[in-house]
Amino acid sequence: VNTWTRVEALDRSLENRTVLIRGRVQTIRPVAKKMAFLVVRENGYTVQCLLQTQPDLVSLQMVKFAAALSRESIVDIEGIVSVPDTLIKAATQQQVEIQVRKLYCVSRAVPTLPINIEDAARSEVEIEKALQEGEKLVRVNQDTRLNFRVLDLRTPANQGIFRIQSQVGNVFRQFLLSEGFIEIHTPKLIAGTSEGGAAVFRLNYKGQPACLAQSPQLHKQMSICGDLSRVFEIGPVFRAEDSNTHRHLCEFTGLDVEMEIKKHYFEVMDIVDKLFVSIFDSLNQNCKKELEAVRKQHPFEPLKYLRQTLRLTYEEGVQMLKDAGIEIEPFGDLNTEAERKLGQLVSEKYGTEFYILYRYPLAVRPFYTMPCYDNPKEYSNSFDVFIRGEEIISGAQRVHKPDLLEQRAEALGIDVKTISTYIDSFRYGAPLHGGFGVGLERVVMLFCGLNNIRKTSLYPRDPVRIVP
Ligand code: 4AD
Repeated sequence: VNTWTRVEALDRSLENRTVLIRGRVQTIRPVAKKMAFLVVRENGYTVQCLLQTQPDLVSLQMVKFAAALSRESIVDIEGIVSVPDTLIKAATQQQVEIQVRKLYCVSRAVPTLPINIEDAARSEVEIEKALQEGEKLVRVNQDTRLNFRVLDLRTPANQGIFRIQSQVGNVFRQFLLSEGFIEIHTPKLIAGTSEGGAAVFRLNYKGQPACLAQSPQLHKQMSICGDLSRVFEIGPVFRAEDSNTHRHLCEFTGLDVEMEIKKHYFEVMDIVDKLFVSIFDSLNQNCKKELEAVRKQHPFEPLKYLRQTLRLTYEEGVQMLKDAGIEIEPFGDLNTEAERKLGQLVSEKYGTEFYILYRYPLAVRPFYTMPCYDNPKEYSNSFDVFIRGEEIISGAQRVHKPDLLEQRAEALGIDVKTISTYIDSFRYGAPLHGGFGVGLERVVMLFCGLNNIRKTSLYPRDPVRIVP
C-alpha cells in the first residue's frame, strides 16, 4: 500500500482492508513476549494496533522492537483493519483495530517525557475519579503544560482548540471579504501609543523613541482617510499588562475592523451582529468533532445566541444590575464582577449569552471615541460586546474632526506631538467612520467556556512568560 489513511478516518467500512497510517505511539503494552498492543495517535485520534506472532503474522523480533519503542515516537504502520468483538482497552476513539503487518519507526522520542499525554488529556472529573481509585497520577499543572507546550498541544482538546481558532479567523476573513472589506497590514512599530495609558512596550527605534502597537487603531483609521473605505486586519497586538489575570495577555491576536458609515454607528454594530452569528454558526456546523474533543476534557454548554443580536444601552444594563441589588456608578465602567453578573441577568431574561452593550459613558472610552450627539458631555457613540459576561469586543464611531480629536487627546494626557501625523490625516477631509477590535483568544476561550486565556493562546505571553 502506498496511500495513507488518517487515523481519524479509520472505521468499519474499511474492515479487512490493508491500510498505511502514521502516528505517535501513545501507549505500549507487551503481552507475554508474543504479542504487543500499541495505541497510535494522529492529531488527537487514536487507534489500537495489535502485533501477534501467532499465527505467524509478525516475527518475535518485531514484537520485541515494538515493545521497546518509547512513547510519543512516530511510527508508520501497515496492517489490516479488523472489527474486534470488544476493544481490549476502550481508550481509543476508533472502533476498529489494526492487525499489524509492518512497523517502522520514523522518529524516536526520548525514553522519559516531562508530560504524559494521557494524563494531560484527562478532565478534572476523570482525574478526581482516578485519584479516588488509588491510581498514581500526577496532575499536569498549567505552567508545566506551557513550559512543554509542544507536548501539551498533542492532547485532543488542544488539537480542537487551535482548529477552532483557525476557523474563527477564517470565517472572520471570508465574511468581511464578502461584505466588500479589504485586508490590510499596519505597522507594529509606531512612534506614539495608539490606545494611551501605561500598557505600552517602549523601545528604541534607531535612536528615536517608539512603541509596539497596542492596536492598529491609528493606522486603520488613517486608511479610511485614504479612502480604503472598509478595512480589516488580523495581527498581533501588544499590551504591557502588569497584572496577571485569566483574560489578559501581553501579546494577543487582534481582529480589527474599520469602515465608513453613512450616519450612525449602528451600521458598525450591524456588521458585528452578522459577522458573529456567522462565526458561531460555522463553528457549530463545521467544528463538531473539535468542539466535542474540547468538551470531553473541559465540559461546557453550547453558547446561547440569537439570530439577531440583543442590544442594550449601558444605562439599561446599569438598571438591570441595580434591580438585582448591585449599585454601579452611572458614569464609571463595569468591573469584571459586574460584567459577569450582567451576563447572567441578560441570559436569564433574554435567553442569550452574546449581546451588545452600547452608549457607554464618555469618561471610560479612549480619546478617539465620538461623543454622543445628544449628550456629548456624558455619553459616547460606542459599544462593547460580551460572551458569557466577558468582553470580547470594543467598538465605536470615531472623532473625524481634527480639532476635537486633538482636544480629546490632550485632555486625556496624550502627547499629541507623537501622534501628529494621525491627527493631520483628518485635516484633508475625513469620512464619518467607526469600527471595532476583537480579541481572538478571548472569543475562543469564551465560546468554549474555558477558564483561562492561556489555553487559547498557542505560545502565551503574559507578565512573567516569554518562553517557549
Ligand atoms: O478594548 P480594546 O483595548 O480596544 C481597542 O484596542 C480598540 N482599538 C478597538 C476599537 O477598534 N475600538 O481591545 C479590543 C479587544 C478587547 O475587547 C479584548 O477582547 C481584547 O481586544 N483584549 C485583550 N485580549 C487579551 N489580552 C489583553 N491584554 C487584551 N486587551 C484587550
